[in-house]
Amino acid sequence: MNNPDWRIGILFSETGATAAIEQTMINGSMLAIEEINSAGGVLGRPLKAVAYDPQSQAKKYREFAARMLVEDQVKIIFGAYMSSCRKAVLPEIEAHRGLFFYPTFYEGFEFSPRCFYTGAAPNQGALQLASYMMENFGSNFVLIGSNYVYPYEYNRVVTDFVVQSKGKILDELYVPVEAKPEDFTRFIQRLQKLKPDVIVSSVVGIGVNYLYKAYAEAGFDPKTMPIAAAATSEADVVSMAPGTAAGHFTSTVFFETLQTPAARRFVAAYKARFGASAPVTACAEAAYFEILMYAKALEIAGTDNPDAIIETLKGMEFEAPQGRIRIDPTTHHTELWPRLGKINMDHQFEIVWESDARVKPDPYFVAPTFDDWSKLALQHRKM
Ligand code: ACM
Repeated sequence: MNNPDWRIGILFSETGATAAIEQTMINGSMLAIEEINSAGGVLGRPLKAVAYDPQSQAKKYREFAARMLVEDQVKIIFGAYMSSCRKAVLPEIEAHRGLFFYPTFYEGFEFSPRCFYTGAAPNQGALQLASYMMENFGSNFVLIGSNYVYPYEYNRVVTDFVVQSKGKILDELYVPVEAKPEDFTRFIQRLQKLKPDVIVSSVVGIGVNYLYKAYAEAGFDPKTMPIAAAATSEADVVSMAPGTAAGHFTSTVFFETLQTPAARRFVAAYKARFGASAPVTACAEAAYFEILMYAKALEIAGTDNPDAIIETLKGMEFEAPQGRIRIDPTTHHTELWPRLGKINMDHQFEIVWESDARVKPDPYFVAPTFDDWSKLALQHRKM
């Protein structure tokens, strides 16, 4: 007899340093599951979520992934925000021949045949952000990130690009993932001394609020020294005092303010379900569309055997809220739509630049030289 439902694992944190963004990813996942089930499920069977709270800790991600794969009979897991958590989960996924969907922008330089990466690689955001900032503000950069693998690698890519473009990295600083306000004191002192043109932030989670608060309290002016962020999202600015982050920039592939019909439909459904003030983020969007894509693959394959799903997903295209996306069959990463947003006084991201074509993922920067790669990634500049 067939199982009555299709089980999937949902592994995002409701507590800990990155809970705010991960809550939006839980919401995106739940919205997709509810939409699928209210339309009759897949092949007549509903999706059923098995979920745990790994508390923003890599070790717990690995333990819960193992529990899902071994005890809960779940082979397909959607989850993780921080790269440290994805890297903790993947050995379990590979050992148990499961499949993992990762909906977060990340540092690249990774491939697991049992993972699909639906967030941006650095050639789908980091480069565009650094380039825009150099053109509009200047070429002396200070980098600040959280102290773990994603910011280290992100900063390495940004450094390569800035230095090749004849800019300078004046300093590179790190704060703990579980940051406290005082962790930003030295950063502020360095800004006062170095006076960079641009600050690039790959600070994640709880530290994001402290970063912008410390900057605002020091009296700096975003018109001459903006923060250009990779991870600052609607989930962060929603809890800041009015105007705290106004004038600063973020690069990502989806903003709550995106005005296309598909984006408006998604945002309206999300807010109807989770409340008008619930922030919608690019990570929530990816968490949402990757479950819808999985359901499509499940319907075509007729089985949730991970190997069959992997084959079905390769090359698949899908109308996501950000635009039509495509799973790259070679890298398992996703062709996406890079955008840049500037935060206004109402804590809304105003889109100041977007690619007019879908950008292929290049997680290993395999284009023959760095210069060729940077030209390729920038060829669709529009604004
Ligand atoms: C991240 O760690 N990929 C945000």
